[in-house]
Amino acid sequence: MSDRSLLVVVLAAGEGTRMKSRLPKVLHKVAGRTMLHHVLAATRAAGATRTAVVVGPGREDVAAEATRIVPDAQVFVQTERLGTAHAVLAARAALEQGADDVLVLYADTPLVRPETLARLRAPLAEGAAVAALGFEPEDPTGYGRLVTSGDDLVAIREEKDATAAEKAVRFCNAGLMALSGKDALSILDRIGNANSKGEYYLTDAVEIARADGRSAVAAKADVDEVAGVNSRIQLAEAEAILQKRLRLSAMAEGVTLIAPETVFFSADTVLGRDVIVEPNVVFGPGVTVGDDVVIHAFCHLEGAQLAPGVSIGPYARLRPGTRLDEGVRIGNFVETKAAHIESGAKVNHLSYVGDAHVGAGANLGAGTITCNYDGFFKYRTEIGAGAFIGVNSALVAPVTIGAGAYVGTGAVITSDVPEDALAIARSRQVVKEGWAKDFRAARADAKKKG
Ligand code: UD1
Ligand code: CA
Repeated sequence: MSDRSLLVVVLAAGEGTRMKSRLPKVLHKVAGRTMLHHVLAATRAAGATRTAVVVGPGREDVAAEATRIVPDAQVFVQTERLGTAHAVLAARAALEQGADDVLVLYADTPLVRPETLARLRAPLAEGAAVAALGFEPEDPTGYGRLVTSGDDLVAIREEKDATAAEKAVRFCNAGLMALSGKDALSILDRIGNANSKGEYYLTDAVEIARADGRSAVAAKADVDEVAGVNSRIQLAEAEAILQKRLRLSAMAEGVTLIAPETVFFSADTVLGRDVIVEPNVVFGPGVTVGDDVVIHAFCHLEGAQLAPGVSIGPYARLRPGTRLDEGVRIGNFVETKAAHIESGAKVNHLSYVGDAHVGAGANLGAGTITCNYDGFFKYRTEIGAGAFIGVNSALVAPVTIGAGAYVGTGAVITSDVPEDALAIARSRQVVKEGWAKDFRAARADAKKKG
């Protein structure tokens, strides 16, 4: 990685009206994290030494997300939307602090990779003043065009200001730009707004640098990396692109996906080797899966840690705070939440295990339910190692089942069960010989009489 210092300026002041949303556009999520988070993760991976984020007026929520991801990010407010160069200049104080390289990105372009940022920035080390990132969209309408001559970038022409010949150019401006740190302010301060939109265009930086006798160059990126998101449709397109990337990288790292197109990951999903994921599985944020885990079909996981050799599903739901130690088995229609289940324990059918700790080797029979909530507060259930809970038992928390204890089928357990004890908590069975036969005869008789 380069040892040059890097100031990143992320433009996030867009209104995103086409999203038709109360939520600011850049806080919409792709693969479980906000678009702003994606961009900041990429810039961090590309070696950002300082980060400035430009937000619209009153956008404390966007500012909070920026500093959540990059705690020392500087947030600037662009009070009026007067164009992309004006937006970058909202971060003037950060630019004045100086950096070898400056990288400008849009927060609504979430799929850009760190390698591409490195490629965009590289020419600055060789003396270029400006580098722009180009791509070739299927339909160039609306984009600025990169006017090149050999390796040189001559100008970026906005569609509205372009001649017919310039409009015919298919190489378009993605919007990301690298500027030499020592020239950035001088260039930006000279950008005017004498154009058809009356805006301060960042893209004018190219011609200003060249007029100074400095060089400007273009790098090229894949359409899939620089797709901007302006609508829910484009949000879904970005999701599809990112999911495809995540699936390919999971498989490349040794995960078997039987039907990759039906498995949905979060950007932060961590998977070990020889994990098998059956069809129709959703990974929400915060999931870590160890080696040799099998995730059967139709599982939903979020905020869960699975140690090696765990097996879950089909149809298991692991909610936040789930921790499964080695070899734990979670079967069909089982839900876990804030539950630490130790090695080798089994919860195989139709259970809810919440706010609980289950010791190693315990067996929770079908339909075991932790009753953890009284409508006001949550309570914990403690199940000792090797305990055996009979089917259809309700464990009314707070309650402790001692290690090695047995709970008889159909129990409602309201007080602690000591180690190695047997607890039976159900009403006694009553048998009345012949009762059913007599009952049917009496009813049939009554019916006949009307
Ligand atoms: C811009 C580029 C264009 C490029 C296109 C790629 C300019 C002049 N044009 O055009 O060459 O092909 O992006 O999508 O740069 N923003 C602010 N404050 C502003 C204006 C914009 O924060 O005052 C932010 C927006 O939130 C957005 C980004 O900058 O994230 C781009 O702004 P937008 O108005 O969409 O630029 P385009 O006209 O699409
Ligand atoms: Ca745009």
